[in-house]
Amino acid sequence: MASSSRWLVLFLISQLDLVLAQSNASTVFIPEANTIIGLNLPDDGSNDINFYISSPDWYQYSAIGFGSSMAHSLMLVMYPSADRRSVTVSPRFTDGNTEPTYHPLKITLHPGTELSPTTGQMTANGTCHSCRNLHTSNPSDSSISSQKDAIPPNSPTAPVMFAVGANSGSFSSDNPDARIRRHVAHGIFHINIPKSSGPGGVGTPTNITSSHVTFPDDDPSLKKSTNKAATAHGILFAIVALAIAPFDTLVAAFLGRRWPTLHVATGGTYFLFVIGGMVPGILVSREHILTAKMGTGHQVLGLVTVGAMVVMVGWGFVVRKKAGQEGAGGNGKGGWMKQVHAWAGRGVWVALLINNGLGLKLSEQTKLLMLGYAVLAGGVFVFLIPIYFCLWRCTSVRKPKTAEEDHELYNMPSIYDHEARYGYGRQ
Ligand code: HEM
Ligand SMILES: *[C@@H]1O[C@H](CO)[C@@H](O)[C@H](O)[C@H]1NC(C)=O
Ligand SMILES: *[C@@H]1O[C@H](CO)[C@@H](O)[C@H](O)[C@H]1NC(C)=O
Ligand SMILES: *[C@@H]1O[C@H](CO)[C@@H](O)[C@H](O)[C@H]1NC(C)=O
Repeated sequence: MASSSRWLVLFLISQLDLVLAQSNASTVFIPEANTIIGLNLPDDGSNDINFYISSPDWYQYSAIGFGSSMAHSLMLVMYPSADRRSVTVSPRFTDGNTEPTYHPLKITLHPGTELSPTTGQMTANGTCHSCRNLHTSNPSDSSISSQKDAIPPNSPTAPVMFAVGANSGSFSSDNPDARIRRHVAHGIFHINIPKSSGPGGVGTPTNITSSHVTFPDDDPSLKKSTNKAATAHGILFAIVALAIAPFDTLVAAFLGRRWPTLHVATGGTYFLFVIGGMVPGILVSREHILTAKMGTGHQVLGLVTVGAMVVMVGWGFVVRKKAGQEGAGGNGKGGWMKQVHAWAGRGVWVALLINNGLGLKLSEQTKLLMLGYAVLAGGVFVFLIPIYFCLWRCTSVRKPKTAEEDHELYNMPSIYDHEARYGYGRQ
């Protein structure tokens, strides 16, 4: 008898335990980002979404989004509050793979929301009010009715996105419209809508993924977000400013007269690299709000420099044509037009060197990388100055001869004054 009642008590306790443990929420643990996400759809007829996000503050932000791609999906972006004691949760939308903009939906943050001073974990425990069917419930507000429903009405599952941004410095803000950077990693999972619906909120999410959460292709791993266009843009311009431009400047200054087509070839390569580097730069510009209007210093200087380069390429062809027509009758230095071409060319190179630095700053690269670039840029100058000096001496020593002794010039296999000899021969 005693024994059977003991079994009964044990049985009841185990049942009670099952009831208590049965949380009507979906929990996802993403080990690579040390992140826990919890979602609950309360059954109080409110259309609210209870959410829980906990991520380390080494990320600039941690965000969830309701949908399988960024365009027209509701995203909740969490980042440290200005005083770094709590977090800011900003509801945002975008119409493509671009930085989302703030949209004032009603968010309530509950106890448990904090930036832990001991673990550095940012945690948001909140409710997004009337957020489930934004599309259908806001026919009057066109900016919202054009978005997707966060929880699809006639579907057993809902896709949810996750993304984290790289932190450079300790970003924190109370402004829900603060500028954020592109993510470094992202992922997608599916929550079971009936199993995420009910009373009780998100409960206390732990580092265990609910069994009813599924992953596309059964792959729960976090995906690294690539940024190939930005990388190509940076690398191409580094090659241009540190190698191609100085090489072309040397060729133009010291070999241009003997082999004028050589500068056409190096200059043409130079120009193609600049255009090839600019195109991905313009594509990347569209991704962020700060850069979409092409108004930052780096973008303005870049466009002006490329514009100047286009003009100078055209100018260079005019100079060549004129030199061909005038021949030796022209000024030994090639005339003012050639001087403008040469000096504008050097100016373009210096502008490119500086603008690469501005670009590294705009993309918030590490101090180490910026220092590395500065050292390389300085190194190129230090390396080139003696070469310049030496070549300049060589050419200027011989220059008087060409003016004085025309016959010698004619007989001598000229090393540099190709154009002048050509002109002399024609006269
Ligand atoms: C400045 C802000 C952001 C920019 C510039 C940006 C840009 C992009 C780009 C270019 C892609 C294409 C894939 C790639 O190249 O890696 C992408 C994919 C993705 N983004 Fe964002 N994003 C931003 C913020 C966010 C936020 C806040 C979320 C919230 C969860 C998010 C979630 C995702 C996801 C899940 C994907 C992969 C989905 C797909 O393949 O379409 N992004 N993003
Ligand atoms: C989140 O907020 C709810 C509602 O206030 C509360 O019941 C719950 O305990 C909180 N969760 C955590 C993990 O603090
Ligand atoms: C989950 O929902 C059921 C009713 O649908 C309720 O009995 C139960 O208490 C809920 N679980 C929690 C943890 O609140
Ligand atoms: C999950 O949390 C428990 C308790 O906090 C901890 O002991 C365990 O190491 C964690 N597991 C992972 C994979 O982080």
